[in-house]
Amino acid sequence: MYILIKDISDHVDKEVTIKGWLYNKRSSGKIGFLELRDGTGFVQGVVVKNAVEEHIWEHVEKVTQESSVIVTGDVSKHPKQEGVFELQIKSLEIVQLAEEYPITKKEHGPDFLLDNRHLWLRSKKQWAIQRVRDEVIQAIYDFYHNNGFVKIDTPIMTPNACEGSTTLFGIEYFDEGEVFLSQSGQLYLEAAIMSVGRGFDFGPTFRAEKSKTKRHLTEFWMMDAEAAYVEHEESMEIQENMIVFIVERILEKCQSELTILERDLEPLRKIKAPFTRLTYTEAIEKLNSLGSDIKFGEDLGNDDEGMLTEDSDVPVFIHKWPREIKPFYMKVDPENPDIVLNNDLIGVEGAGELIGGSQREDDHEILKSAIKKEGLEGPEYQWYLDLRKYGSVPHSGFGLGLERTVGWICGVKHIRETIPFPRMINRVRP
Ligand code: 4AD
Ligand code: MG
Repeated sequence: MYILIKDISDHVDKEVTIKGWLYNKRSSGKIGFLELRDGTGFVQGVVVKNAVEEHIWEHVEKVTQESSVIVTGDVSKHPKQEGVFELQIKSLEIVQLAEEYPITKKEHGPDFLLDNRHLWLRSKKQWAIQRVRDEVIQAIYDFYHNNGFVKIDTPIMTPNACEGSTTLFGIEYFDEGEVFLSQSGQLYLEAAIMSVGRGFDFGPTFRAEKSKTKRHLTEFWMMDAEAAYVEHEESMEIQENMIVFIVERILEKCQSELTILERDLEPLRKIKAPFTRLTYTEAIEKLNSLGSDIKFGEDLGNDDEGMLTEDSDVPVFIHKWPREIKPFYMKVDPENPDIVLNNDLIGVEGAGELIGGSQREDDHEILKSAIKKEGLEGPEYQWYLDLRKYGSVPHSGFGLGLERTVGWICGVKHIRETIPFPRMINRVRP
């Protein structure tokens, strides 16, 4: 019977067939150990020379790493490891004999691996990361659908800028002139929630950012959420509930992936609401008291984020930032005209900023002058201003970076491993 490796425990003492690839091989001349993978999992196959026909043993000797194979054998329990199964191989068919595979067990440098990303994706850790990514995506959809949010697909090609004009990728659009790849679906989502009340989008976003860090990609996936009649504090509660939901889901569903990734589960188990909340002003004071010379009005750097999360088991909200250094759409704090009602959510374990969000400016005149001040004035923002003319309501939203979230949960150092084909300033291939 043809089965998937993930279901192997249901077939102990039965003969099964697996269609997949040879991940690794060890052979002593009399006995061969073939590690097989089929996309759903990995299993060790054992072949004893004397127990199989001669031509089968010839296949065993000949088969190379990453050859595609169809293998039949009896499933048995691993003699020593509980919950581990083996395949006592009776036959091995080679679908295609792979040429000498470039990725071997020895250490390879990151550039070599990235040049071979199309093959590197097959490695066990990379396989595990993509499975966690898939589960995080699923968890996000479930969280929003459980909470009354409607999926809204916002456009990728946009004539306006959401996050400032300095990080736009332009493209020529027929006779319409230059348009840009979306930096965030937020502005369009704001329009849509005036129809559906609560909405979220999930798609690729683009930043022509010259940042060469472990946390920056030029193409990354963002989930934006937006909700009518939700204000600053409630928005932060939604954010922390979402993060807790995602982490619980991964702990429940991705045990074997996290084991492959050698992820310490203790810090993940501690992710519970409420998260720490610090105003930007408190954060600056705290940093100064810890010896930093950062001044009010400056953006937080990597080291600052590290210092602010060091003593916390849970992610840290830094909220109510100076208006001066934040985008035009954030709502001005009614209690202080120099502050906006926004938040960043900084992850623990060096994860960096996972979420950026805010209450949105809902007053037509204040918003209009903020757009002008940012030098973005023009017809492309008319429709966005319209939303403040026809039934404007207090509303809030935020954007979660998928790769940073997956990177943190998987415990990988560089987010380039969390997306199948990373795009960075110096890399667009393969
Ligand atoms: O903080 P950002 O720029 O916020 C926005 O774009 C808002 N319009 C979202 C909203 O309110 N709907 O980006 C949101 C998140 C960041 O917190 C970070 O996790 C991720 O997107 N992000 C990046 N991830 C990878 N590479 C980059 N270059 C990123 N820039 C932002
Ligand atoms: Mg941000």
